[in-house]
Amino acid sequence: MTPDIEQAAAILRRGGLVAFPTETVYGLGADAENTEAVARIFTAKGRPTNHPLIVHIGHAGLLDRWATDIPPMALQLAQRFWPGPLTLILKRSGNVPDAITGGQDTVGLRMPDHPVALALLAAFGGGIAAPSANRFGRLSPTTAEHVRAGLGASVDYVLDGGPCRVGIESSILDLSGSRPQLLRPGMITAAEIEAVLGRPLAVPTGEIPRAPGALPSHYAPQTALMLVPTNDLVGKIKQCLENGERVAVLARSVTPALPQCIWQIMPDDPGCYAHELYARLREIDALQANRILVEAPPLGITWLAVRDRLARAAQAEHYAQLPR
Ligand code: TXA
Ligand code: MG
Repeated sequence: MTPDIEQAAAILRRGGLVAFPTETVYGLGADAENTEAVARIFTAKGRPTNHPLIVHIGHAGLLDRWATDIPPMALQLAQRFWPGPLTLILKRSGNVPDAITGGQDTVGLRMPDHPVALALLAAFGGGIAAPSANRFGRLSPTTAEHVRAGLGASVDYVLDGGPCRVGIESSILDLSGSRPQLLRPGMITAAEIEAVLGRPLAVPTGEIPRAPGALPSHYAPQTALMLVPTNDLVGKIKQCLENGERVAVLARSVTPALPQCIWQIMPDDPGCYAHELYARLREIDALQANRILVEAPPLGITWLAVRDRLARAAQAEHYAQLPR
């Protein structure tokens, strides 16, 4: 065990906050059984306390410490996808403090696929409650530097594990109801989950926004962002330039024309795109453009998670609410 991990585990034990890398994004962790420590997460993030947190665990054998009435499906999925970017929503056990669930009768559980996260979980021994390590409503961090820039002194320790491999948040699957339902798409797709379960997932009703990631005002850069179909991109850029806007373009297939713009060329593969997305949006934010024009990604299921994050980032009403 490296001294970093020992120190981080000691901080968790005494109720402190440790940011740590996972394969998806960096998490802001606290001892999941320490109510005061969990409360500090909400303060550090500026997050409403009724938004539940995911509990990270070191292996699937710990599921029944945190959940009850665990359906066989949960074990099948954990066996197939853990460690990995899939969060399971299950009926909570008596061990789960209300502070974590926002008073709901379910809990989100996930075993992250990152050696530093797994070493921290092993050293600490308990569950680590962790949302993404960003201020509420902002982009999730995919490097230790992003965490420090966003949360500063409100986090006691940042474990640096380099850039996150996946780059966007885990898929969230609700197994607490009568039929499994995907609450947040991620790089593990509905089709992959359905293949393991041998049954279709329920179509989200959108009735209760139980995952704040399911509210529109999430995962957003500070610069107003607009999704534009490939064929309209150059025309839209010209229009914005004519209006005197400073324009940044996140293009995938359109080659840079118009040198007056800031061009970021994105990969044409959903996994590589997701890996880079938040870091690119942060870079653009730092350049003080008036507008980000994003070439809309393809419609296939493998692009769903990327499209979801971009669509949320494009929700116009969000920008009026954010302090700059
Ligand atoms: O990839 C990830 O999931 C990252 C890393 C750090 O693990 N975590 C993450 O946490 O994205 P957070 O808090 O930013 O997003 C977790 C989402 C929230 O939308 C939350 O509402 C939802 O999970 N969630 C947690 N517990 C839930 C529950 N019991 N029922 C429904 N949604 C829940
Ligand atoms: Mg988050």
